[in-house]
Amino acid sequence: MAASMSTVATLRATFHHRHLSSSTHVASFPTTVSLPSTTTNAVTAKPMFISCNSAAATAPVQAPPPSSISSDRVFNFAAGPATLPENVLRKAQAELVNWRGSGMSVMEMSHRGKEFLSIVQKAESDLRDLLGIPDDYAVLFLQGGATTQFSAVPLNLCSPDDAADFIVTGSWGDKAYKEAGKYCKPNLIWTGKSEKYTQIPSFDDLEQNPNARYLHICANETIHGVEFKNYPTPKNNSGVLVADMSSNFCSKPVDVSKFGIIYAGAQKNVGPSGVTIVIIRRDLIGNATESTPVMLDYKIHADNNSLYNTPPCYGIYMCGLVFEDLQSQGGLGEVEKKNKKKAEVLYEAIDGSNGFYRCPVEKPVRSLMNVPFTLAETPLEAEFIKEAASEKMVQLKGHRSVGGMRASIYNAMPLAGVEKLVAFMKDFQARHA
Ligand SMILES: Cc1ncc(COP(=O)(O)O)c(C=O)c1O
Repeated sequence: MAASMSTVATLRATFHHRHLSSSTHVASFPTTVSLPSTTTNAVTAKPMFISCNSAAATAPVQAPPPSSISSDRVFNFAAGPATLPENVLRKAQAELVNWRGSGMSVMEMSHRGKEFLSIVQKAESDLRDLLGIPDDYAVLFLQGGATTQFSAVPLNLCSPDDAADFIVTGSWGDKAYKEAGKYCKPNLIWTGKSEKYTQIPSFDDLEQNPNARYLHICANETIHGVEFKNYPTPKNNSGVLVADMSSNFCSKPVDVSKFGIIYAGAQKNVGPSGVTIVIIRRDLIGNATESTPVMLDYKIHADNNSLYNTPPCYGIYMCGLVFEDLQSQGGLGEVEKKNKKKAEVLYEAIDGSNGFYRCPVEKPVRSLMNVPFTLAETPLEAEFIKEAASEKMVQLKGHRSVGGMRASIYNAMPLAGVEKLVAFMKDFQARHA
């Protein structure tokens, strides 16, 4: 190991590469993963033996504090799968091989064993706590992504001749609308397509079908960066509001009782891909059309507490760790404050750039999660993305359908990441304006 490296750097490098070499000196220190102290879940792993050939290396080495970012991690602005809290990843790392003394990894557990049951039950109860989910709502941990819900929702709420209303504020809402056409009679009551999906309509002007079984929205359009700040009410008293919340799930408090169904893929704000969360008012369960595939029938999953077949066990476990982390931050009210701050810093930089950077979305409906922006000089965009990546800020390319850039700043993106991006933007402008 290079003599010029500092002791700490030496230790860190050794730690990261998990060497157990035959070097002369062996330092031992407990890898106490200091986690947010929500509950009983702080994990104290067994002492880990780290080999090191520096005699000075006996000094105690602290595990990184929960909010710190390791120097070998990038700021990942991907739209999903997306960045996860580093302390959550470290906790999962510490528990990977032997989950809390069970002698096995969560990946190896029976989904019907007591260990996994405790994991899924705690994940559900923590999510209920975070979102204040009323008792008359079921929480389902499913598979198939939010895309599968585009068909599951009409199959469970409609007969083939039933109407459903759609407000389409971006590509995801449009996909949900088109898929519903296979199973019911969807009406496009508003679309922002002609304005390139930069707006949300005024609810008073909407011409809702009074018989629509549901009114569908995509609460946050991940590609276009358009977010509902409040929600429309279905005109049909027995109809319900259904929201795809994939990209702003758990980013702020939500009054769940306003919705019949909320669904979300986990891979933006609350975990890895492979888990889809459905929150559904219980009286809507049990009405699936006869030909509904068993895996799309909410009743099957609700009756079996999400364990009808083998669920995405490890993904659910990861979501549970994220829920604990959100609780330890003080809940979704506190999380929202942080998200607002990050978005404000980034939008201010865009709007204050004298047109060098532009965000096309109307200000009141700009997303706190996904910030699309372009450069007045389009050919410079590739250079911007390349230079940012060389500064360890990655995945800033806009979606292929819209181009430009997009910074996804989900819950797990620290303010420091946004500040670094803004500093880079200013520097880039100074060099290229
Ligand atoms: C808002 C929204 N809805 C639906 C989807 C589709 O999700 P999945 O890939 O999990 O099916 C995405 C994916 O990015 C999304 O952002």
